Amino acid sequence: MNNTNKNVLKIDNLSICFDINGKKCHAIRDLNLTVNAGELVALVGESGCGKSTFGQMLVNLLEPTKGEILFEGEDIFKSRRARKEIPQKIQMIFQDPYSSLNPKRKIGWLLEESLDIHRKNLSKEQRIKIVDEMLELVGLDESYKDRYPSQLSGGQRQRVSIAIALILNPKFVVCDEAVSALDVSVQAQILNLLHDLQEKFNLTYLFISHNLNVVSYMSDRIGVMYLGSIVELGDAVTLSKNPIHPYTKMLFSSSMNVGEADSGKVQITGELPSPSNPPSGCTFHTRCAYCTELCSSARPELQELPDGRQIACHYAQKFYQESMEKKQ
Ligand SMILES: Nc1ncnc2c1ncn2[C@@H]1O[C@H](COP(=O)(O)OP(=O)(O)O)[C@@H](O)[C@H]1O
Ligand code: SF4
Ligand SMILES: [Mg+2]
Repeated sequence: MNNTNKNVLKIDNLSICFDINGKKCHAIRDLNLTVNAGELVALVGESGCGKSTFGQMLVNLLEPTKGEILFEGEDIFKSRRARKEIPQKIQMIFQDPYSSLNPKRKIGWLLEESLDIHRKNLSKEQRIKIVDEMLELVGLDESYKDRYPSQLSGGQRQRVSIAIALILNPKFVVCDEAVSALDVSVQAQILNLLHDLQEKFNLTYLFISHNLNVVSYMSDRIGVMYLGSIVELGDAVTLSKNPIHPYTKMLFSSSMNVGEADSGKVQITGELPSPSNPPSGCTFHTRCAYCTELCSSARPELQELPDGRQIACHYAQKFYQESMEKKQ
C-alpha cells in the first residue's frame, strides 16, 4: 500500500476555534500530520474530539483559524487556483449515506451532477459512459441509475456515495465514519471495496473512525486524537501491539478482545472534557492515571520515539523504556 514516500498532505499547526454564542470552542488545536502517497492513515478518537471538523477542513468546508493544509505542496486555502482545483482532488465519504444523498434525485442524476459542475466539456455520451463505469466499479449495475436513494439498502447507498466521491478522479479520499452506520457484514464488504479501489486508482486515504477495530487492521498508520490534537501517531501494527500513550492504551483496552494487547489493560475512566474549556497542560491530565504536577501545567509537544512513532506525553520515553523491558 505504501507505494512511495512522497507526502501528499502536510498539516502544520492547524487550529479551528468555533464561536458558539460568544463561547469559544477549540475543536482542533495545533494539529500536525503528514500523509504519504498511497497510504491509509486512520484517525481515531472518542466522539467529539474533532475528527469530522478536521475532515471538513480538508475538503474546504471549514476554514482554519490558524495553521496550514498543504496538498502536494500547495496551501489549499491560499491561492485562487488551489481553491478551484484542489477540491476535486480531495473527496469525502460521509458516515450517513441516508442524509448525504439528495432523496429527490435518481442515482444517475446524482452521479452526473458533479461531472456537470467540474467537467463541463464532456458530451452527454461521455458522461453516461463514465457514470456506468463508475457504478460497475462499485458493484452496482446500470439499472441503479433510475432508482432513488430510498430504494437502496444502506450498503448500496454507501456504494453510490463512493462512486460520487471517485467520479472526479480524486487523489485523496477522506472517509468519515464511512461504515459506522452499516451492519457488520456490510461494513466488511464496503471496506474491501474501498481497499480494492485504493489499489486500482492509487488513492491515498484518511480514515476517520471512533472504532479502532474497524480501521486498525487495514491501516498503514494510526493517529490517535484527543481534544483536537494528535497524541500518538505511528505504524498501525506497532501501535496496536504496543500502545504507549496512556490515552491510546485506554482506547485500545476498550476495543480489544482479551489477550490481544499485552501492554497492560487500562480502564476507561471519565469523560472527554469540553473543547470550550480544555484542561491546562496536557489536555488528557484530568483522566490520566500517571498525571503529575508537570502534566497539569505544561503542554507536552509531539516527540519521536526510537521506533519512529510520535507521542505527546511528558513521560513518553519512560513509558517506552518500560514497555521494552516488559517485552524482554
Ligand atoms: N459547525 C460547528 N459549530 C460549532 N461547534 C462545532 C461545529 N462542528 C463541530 N463543533 C464542535 O467541535 C467539537 C468536535 O466535533 P466533531 O469534529 O464533530 O467531533 P468528532 O467527529 O470527533 O465526533 C465538538 O465539541 C463539536 O460540538
Ligand atoms: S503528559 Fe502526563 S497526563 Fe498527559 S498523558 Fe502523559 S502522563 Fe498522562
Ligand atoms: Mg464525527
